[in-house]
Amino acid sequence: MKHLLLSALLLTTVLISAEAMAATVNVTLTAREVDLPIDNAGHTQRMWTYDGTIPGPLIRVTQGDTINFTLKSDSANKESHSIDFHAGRFDVMDEFAPIKPGTTRKFSYKVDYPGVWIYHCGSDSMAEHISRGMYGALIVDPKEGYTKDFPKPDREYVLMQGDLFQNDATAKERTAGLKWEGVLINGKKFHYDPVHDQNAEIMLESKPGERVRIYYLNAMISEWSSFHPIAGIWDRVWDNGNPKNMRYGMQTVSVPPADGIIADIVSPSDRSTANAIVDHDMHHALNGGITILMNSNDADPKKGHGDELILR
Ligand code: CU
Ligand code: CU
Repeated sequence: MKHLLLSALLLTTVLISAEAMAATVNVTLTAREVDLPIDNAGHTQRMWTYDGTIPGPLIRVTQGDTINFTLKSDSANKESHSIDFHAGRFDVMDEFAPIKPGTTRKFSYKVDYPGVWIYHCGSDSMAEHISRGMYGALIVDPKEGYTKDFPKPDREYVLMQGDLFQNDATAKERTAGLKWEGVLINGKKFHYDPVHDQNAEIMLESKPGERVRIYYLNAMISEWSSFHPIAGIWDRVWDNGNPKNMRYGMQTVSVPPADGIIADIVSPSDRSTANAIVDHDMHHALNGGITILMNSNDADPKKGHGDELILR
């Protein structure tokens, strides 16, 4: 009896502390239609965005948190825009309905599932709104935190892959895959690949032997990605980024349109190496979808931490 009481007391304490730790997080995104550079040479295109960047801001919360969300639409916009959060359960006709330029929508939701989730615009035509850049990433860290099967990484990076079409491509043409120009990695072709683009200045960095965690999201409107680290192996992969969905020692991982995964890579600890992280579909890789990860002792200690998960 004494034991039962004690465990009941313990359970209550655990439940209360889990509840007490759950936070309410205010998130505001503003739909903005802007001209943005779509490559390292600075060529620009009219893009549709959240907060003026591709991808939109990284949102990071913990499982069990409540997101108080506000969507604003810049009054200078020409189109109606909306938000579709994959990380929650809603009414598609309510929270996800489009709003007109100069207006605002607010709603709240609790994040019940851990993982790496896409948010994107769902306004008609979705093909055009997404392929002009209206997408971003939401990381929901598991409430258990790090465990033996979900170890703490040394660095973390977000890579979000989208399409680039010719600026004048209509919604119909985009849907049909016509006037396709290439792949954007975090908003630019060959963003982190000085090997294929002499104008590229940034690479992902780590020290030899570090565990590098990649949050990878495929925002291409109609095409699968074959995600592979050239000269490396995915040590572990978590489908949808959920610690319960673990796979070991993978070479390529298929990532469907509008899905996300977590993939860890650990480089040899006894020498400097480099990896080319690619979508192994050559149509995608050779049109912008290659990222260099440099593993050397000179690695910038800030990269892959804090505000530097998406390198801009
Ligand atoms: Cu939109
Ligand atoms: Cu979606």
